[in-house]
This record gives sequence, structure tokens and C-alpha cells, in this order.
Amino acid sequence: MSVRRLAEVQPASFAFTAETKAKADWWIAKYPAERKQSASIPLLWLVQKQEGWVSEPAIRYLAELLDMPVIRVLEVATFYTMFQLTPVGKVAFVQLCGTTPCMLRGANDLKAVLRGKIGEPHHLSADGKFSWEEVECLGACSNAPMAAINDYYYEDLTPETLAQIIDDFAAGKAPKPGSYDGRRASEPKDKIQTLTDPSLYDGSLAKPIVLPNKPQPEPAA
Ligand code: FES
Repeated sequence: MSVRRLAEVQPASFAFTAETKAKADWWIAKYPAERKQSASIPLLWLVQKQEGWVSEPAIRYLAELLDMPVIRVLEVATFYTMFQLTPVGKVAFVQLCGTTPCMLRGANDLKAVLRGKIGEPHHLSADGKFSWEEVECLGACSNAPMAAINDYYYEDLTPETLAQIIDDFAAGKAPKPGSYDGRRASEPKDKIQTLTDPSLYDGSLAKPIVLPNKPQPEPAA
């Protein structure tokens, strides 16, 4: 479970870069001027994209930009677990799913790999390049166990493949996302055993629908 508190150590200030400010203006312009607070979630996301996490000065900056009480932006930032409230690894931020399907398929072994390679969850590695946390189901259960690393899903993981992925990030490579056991997507892992009857697809099983209490058309002569 994510810790939803602001970091103890905060930067002195925050400001959007010119590039991010242009994106923020685009989002704000999507809403009527008196409703620009509606842009708070996309702007928090832009903060995170720029800095890697959401700091208290950034929350104050957005409150001023959107004419909102600071507490309202703080409420949004602390409610949604997609917003990181402490610094995360600059090279790889690993969100490992620990919910039942992934746990049954080996997530605990993956946690041991992350502890060994990175350290304890919610802490930056010594070089600041890596961090990890356990999260609830990320909706890729059929490819369990899995982890989201930065913006992508890495699926069908084993301790060996996850260790290699972390090593690749450390070496400056960009490991490919997706399944790591050869599956293209989430199709059956071995032989297909369902929906294999050809008659399911040739129309031979289709039957006319008879509605009760409704006159039926005369059969054609
Ligand atoms: S339980 Fe891990 S993705 Fe759903």
C-alpha cells in the first residue's frame, strides 16, 4: 500500500519549464475559465512528468495557477496513488503488483530480487537511480506476475528476468516491455483449449429467435 504523505524533505520552490507550461496552458484552455480547477489532475501529472514526483511547492504552485485553495490540490494529490509524493528512481521506478494472482504466481520472489538489487520499498537506491514499491492489482493478472516500470508493463516475470531487466536499466539500456515468456499478449500460455470448434464460426449453430406472444412470419412457400 502506498504511503500517502508528503515527503519530509522538500525542495525550496517549483516552476514549470517553458515546455511543460505550454502543455499546462493547453489543458487549462480545455475548460471554461471559471472551471479551470478541472485541470488539476492533468497538471499534477505534468508536474510528475517533469520532476518525477509531486512536491509541496508544486502543489502550492498549481493552487495559485488554478485559483484553488492549496488544500484542494493537496486532497487530489494525496487521494490518487498514481501521484508520487516522494522522489522515485530517476532511471527506473518499479511498481510491483503484489495482489493475489501475482502473489500466487511468484510476486514474493520478485520482491526479494528488488530488495537485493534496490533496497527497501519506498526508498531510493544509494545512487538515486532506482526505487520500488508494492502496488495493488494493475489489471494485467493474466500475465502475472508483473510490474510497471516507469511507463510500461513488464509481464510473466521470473526472478531471473526481473533481475536482468534491472541490470539492463542500470547499464543504460531500455529493456523491452511486455511478456517475458514469449507470449505476444495475454493469449493462453500453452495449447489453445477453448473456442476451438470450427462450427462456432461458420454460422451453423445460429438459430432463429422466436419471441413469445408475437406473430411469427409465415414460412416462405
Ligand atoms: S493481480 Fe497482479 S495485475 Fe492483477
